[in-house]
Amino acid sequence: MTRPRKLYVKSFGCQMNVYDSHRMADMLAPEGFAETAHIEDADLVILNTCHIREKAADKVYSELGRMRALKAAAARDGRRLTVAVAGCVAQAEGEEIIRRAPVVDLVVGPQNYHRLPGLLARAEREGAVVDTEFPVEDKFDILRAPSRAATRARGVGAFVTVQEGCDKFCTFCVVPYTRGAEVSRPVIKIVAEVERLADAGVREVTLIGQNVNAYHGEGPDGAAWTLGRLLERVAELPGIARLRYTTSHPCDMEASLVAAHRDLPSLMPYLHLPVQSGSDRILARMNRRHTRADYLKAIARMRAAQPKMAFSSDFIVGFPGESEEDFRATLSLLDEVGYAGAFSFKYSPRPGTPAADMPDQVPEAVKSERLYRLQAAIDRHQAAFNARCLGRSFEVLFEKTGRHAGQIVGRSPYLQPVQVMAPAIMIGDIAAVTITDLGANSLFGALAETRIDADAMLMEA
Ligand code: SAH
Ligand code: SF4
Ligand code: F3S
Repeated sequence: MTRPRKLYVKSFGCQMNVYDSHRMADMLAPEGFAETAHIEDADLVILNTCHIREKAADKVYSELGRMRALKAAAARDGRRLTVAVAGCVAQAEGEEIIRRAPVVDLVVGPQNYHRLPGLLARAEREGAVVDTEFPVEDKFDILRAPSRAATRARGVGAFVTVQEGCDKFCTFCVVPYTRGAEVSRPVIKIVAEVERLADAGVREVTLIGQNVNAYHGEGPDGAAWTLGRLLERVAELPGIARLRYTTSHPCDMEASLVAAHRDLPSLMPYLHLPVQSGSDRILARMNRRHTRADYLKAIARMRAAQPKMAFSSDFIVGFPGESEEDFRATLSLLDEVGYAGAFSFKYSPRPGTPAADMPDQVPEAVKSERLYRLQAAIDRHQAAFNARCLGRSFEVLFEKTGRHAGQIVGRSPYLQPVQVMAPAIMIGDIAAVTITDLGANSLFGALAETRIDADAMLMEA
């Protein structure tokens, strides 16, 4: 019998890449590739890359420097190491990657993962293969399902891509170019995938897409279904205790999605709704297609439907032309919404996007100073939200063993990590936990002694 070849996939960037990395491993499993946790043992390394900011893209080239040494070490052992670059840098830079880093054998864009076995065979024969086409066939039809063992090993929560690509063209963003036009998967395909995951023990499913609430996949009735309708259908599947979705755009908060938050107990009351800026002038220059008031209205509709909702967001500071006054509008929006958490980034000019060519770029020092102030405000909000959780009880879905012996870690409905002294056999279970202490990055809790009604455990805004 031939030795199974070892595969190491390293993911950068967003949850789409995490999902895609799993799909690539699943595609290669029947070809005799077993995943390894040790990069030094690998016969094939796939770097699944992100192009969203300059720093993210730079990481790839420093990683490829390491690959050169690894490839040489493998050759000394009489082994061949194949290096593939996948993801959004692959799509954006294509052949340029091989020119800059000849250690790379294969460059494959996100729309071509279903072709991996053939591309790899060619790369091993000829070297330097690049595939960044947008093919006509549907990759989801050809991609392979994970084995039950692989699903189990990946844990109790899983991502399922329901929508890919973006037609919004925010002026700072590379996603419409690296992921292409918006495409939604049909409902029956998604339902079948979630059923398979549930069957292997998955308890929480996050439906993902770059613009997930623009979902408009074909339903079993032939009509285009909204995300709200899809969530309602997926919520019916036995075994799935929790549902989430990400990432949403403020312009696509359709009525059925708002209603789903009111009607579906398994839909977690937590929404990541990126706003990017609190200034209308900057939002217009960003081509966000919504104003500050539109955004606040979307939040208010959600809160009216589900008073226990909490929110998070993404912010960009130092977008071209951003004045101190614009930036203060972002700080005041933060206070107006009262986020449970948020991500913030310095604007990074990306080649080929309109904002990169805008004349009034903000100096680096100003960006750094604003990021510092914004992060301090976000930290304050997050600490305040966490402090409100102290003494309350939440349902926690336990995911893995904790840092200390006897501890296990799970997530609250609001995605906060919660550390609890409890037996490892409870991993995969949902139990009521009373929050007893606040840590820097997680909450500490104890299993609640009496049964509590799940809904009574959520936070009133
Ligand atoms: N589809 C999502 C997320 C896209 S990328 C949305 O519509 O918001 C994730 C986050 O990266 C964005 O929300 C944005 O805050 C940030 N981002 C995107 N392009 C960026 C750039 N050029 N510079 C800095 N941050 C950027
Ligand atoms: Fe990028 Fe804007 Fe599309 Fe989000 S909505 S992926 S930020 S272009
Ligand atoms: Fe990065 Fe591509 Fe995701 S650019 S954020 S990996 S869609």
